[in-house]
Amino acid sequence: MKIPTIAAILGLAALTSAEVFLHETFSDGEGWTKRWTPSTHRADLGTFEVSSGKWSVDTEKNAGLRTTEDYRFYATSTKFNKTFDNKDKEFVVQFDVKNEQNIDCGGSYVKIFSDKFEPTTFNGDSEYNIMFGPDICGTKAIVHAILQYKGKNYDLKKTVAAPTDVYTHTYTLSIKPDQTYQILVDGEEKAAGKLEEDWDFLPPKTIKDPEASKPADWVDEAEIDDPSDVKPEDWDSIPEFIPDPEATKPEDWDDDMDGEWEAPSITNPEYKGVWTPKRIPNPEYKGAWEHPEIDNPEYKLDDSIYHYTFDNLGFDLWQVKAGTIFNNILVTDDATEAKKLRDESLALAKEEVKAKEAYDEQEKAKLEAEKPEQPSSKETEEPIEIDLDDLSVESDTKPVEKKEEEVKEEVKEEVKETKPIKDEL
Ligand SMILES: *[C@@H]1O[C@H](CO)[C@@H](O)[C@H](O)[C@H]1NC(C)=O
Repeated sequence: MKIPTIAAILGLAALTSAEVFLHETFSDGEGWTKRWTPSTHRADLGTFEVSSGKWSVDTEKNAGLRTTEDYRFYATSTKFNKTFDNKDKEFVVQFDVKNEQNIDCGGSYVKIFSDKFEPTTFNGDSEYNIMFGPDICGTKAIVHAILQYKGKNYDLKKTVAAPTDVYTHTYTLSIKPDQTYQILVDGEEKAAGKLEEDWDFLPPKTIKDPEASKPADWVDEAEIDDPSDVKPEDWDSIPEFIPDPEATKPEDWDDDMDGEWEAPSITNPEYKGVWTPKRIPNPEYKGAWEHPEIDNPEYKLDDSIYHYTFDNLGFDLWQVKAGTIFNNILVTDDATEAKKLRDESLALAKEEVKAKEAYDEQEKAKLEAEKPEQPSSKETEEPIEIDLDDLSVESDTKPVEKKEEEVKEEVKEEVKETKPIKDEL
């Protein structure tokens, strides 16, 4: 038969034609401004610039998209050259994040959209397929992995901790047609498994049989009184209280006046207490009753949960403290290409501690050099200017909480309960 042969060839062709749908390195000066469309949803959105930050290993390679204004929403996006339909293909999204500003509160995740996405009106309510990446606020520092299924957003049930240091970290999410996924931080697996198990897309496969209930004659008691154990005959002959043998009748006791003298009672040291029979295992005991499970009629297998069409990637962020730098954004069906680029990022990131130290030294030296020239106390006493209006406007709108509303109900609850997240960390 020729048909299987042709199918095999086509299959092979599909496997070998690995494609990159987005690879943004911000390495061509102002070129990125032609590829990225800022949202005009609101007038006060924060501005991005391309910068390698205050310190870097390589000013060219480390140049990335940087948030520049504190207390701002950010929204910008870029369109792929062609639609990525991941049917029967692996999907990989990967990007670098450097929170060199020592972030206290701010998102640094990406959202990936279908062709229904509208870049100019892009905002927190814009429907997305996937939201992936770190989100840090106070003690909460997690890597989100939210997937849209049939119009609803589902949060990963596992908690992936986000690094909170000032160095570059590489985040990778891959989803395979066999409906398995993997999340890497700096190439290390942080979560992996089956889509169906780690997100609540589908109702459970089995449920407790509503027809079944515990039989009335079910024996719950694991232990009973030993029927062969009998109370010793002399048990009750020992009284609980006895007259104190040490007590003596006072010298001045007058039987006529005071009545007949009786020694005060004390607790009998011989007293054995109330008799109870020995406990033995109940021969009738059937164990704890288990509610039998049946197949859930609501459950329907869906082997296309993993399947999307992707066209755009964007940043929709709230940042209290700006300065996050995004770099090397990749969307591909080729895990090998992702690993190659990730390894390049990781190699560069290894040099960052040294680069940061050199920068810190330089800053210190600069400060020392300035000191003797400006010994006046005026400079240091100058109050720090805080725009109170600006602060209060932003805090009134409670933007962080508003962010969470975009996500499923469960996510909202999880976020509010910061304790379990902390515990898992
Ligand atoms: C998209 O198209 C532009 C312009 O032809 C090209 O420079 C760029 O490399 C393409 N991007 C990808 C990821 O193929």
